[in-house]
Amino acid sequence: MKIERLTPALGAEIDIDLGRITSYGAQAVYEALMAHQVVFFRDQQMTPEQHIELAHHFGEIDVPHPVYQNHPEIAAITVLENDVNRPPDTNDWHKDLTFRESPPFMSILHAKKVPAAGGDTLWANMALAYENLPPHMRDMLGTLEAVHDIGCFRNDYLGAAHDIQAMNEGVHTNGAWVHPVVGRHPVTGAKYINVNRSFTQHIVGMLKAESDRLLDYIYRHLDQPEHQVRFRWRDNSVAMWDNRVTQHYALADYLPGYRCMNRVTVNSDKRVI
Ligand code: SIN
Repeated sequence: MKIERLTPALGAEIDIDLGRITSYGAQAVYEALMAHQVVFFRDQQMTPEQHIELAHHFGEIDVPHPVYQNHPEIAAITVLENDVNRPPDTNDWHKDLTFRESPPFMSILHAKKVPAAGGDTLWANMALAYENLPPHMRDMLGTLEAVHDIGCFRNDYLGAAHDIQAMNEGVHTNGAWVHPVVGRHPVTGAKYINVNRSFTQHIVGMLKAESDRLLDYIYRHLDQPEHQVRFRWRDNSVAMWDNRVTQHYALADYLPGYRCMNRVTVNSDKRVI
């Protein structure tokens, strides 16, 4: 299996046929994922069934997504289909579903149709960003916790009908959770920054204004391109990321073009439980 590192920060491209992967191959991909945080594959002709089989090599698959559209035959596949009538909303740095007690371990995204130009995705390495903080900030952040909730998913619940009751039910059903501002990776032991723009609401015990100033400092630090990799998709490319230690941002620069991706989310890392 050939593995080519893409940036010093994170990301590697791997040459393997994911549709026919064995347990042995999946273990090698897992080890590459732990080493590079996000891994990419080209020209993968996987069927939706093979996409699910691939995810089973890594852990238990998540329930259908609370707001995005699901695949007509396999509900565990989220279909991210965007064009001028369905504008994308993942162009915000985020780690998936951090309003849950246990946010998912990883996701596998398969490009079905991508625009001729644009629609790239960026990932950032939160462990590297933590290491690059000044020592006094690392110490201070290590004592803090933050509240996460559904954040801008409120827009999806409100919808065109401006349905405030649906939004309140969404807030109630999905709930909120408190996580440490600095996490520790269960496999590598690396410490990482554990707040994100989409879902982190405030630092526990701080006034909103004070919390906003601190979060803004952290987000500007994360934004440095030295922490990132940018992936140029082609039809049938696949990305697999460790959601514990990365954040991602899908560029919304291709409208009125069309982009369609199938995503399977894996909740738990079966090699850790
Ligand atoms: C996501 O946020 O999971 C979507 C990423 C993408 O569409 O590139």
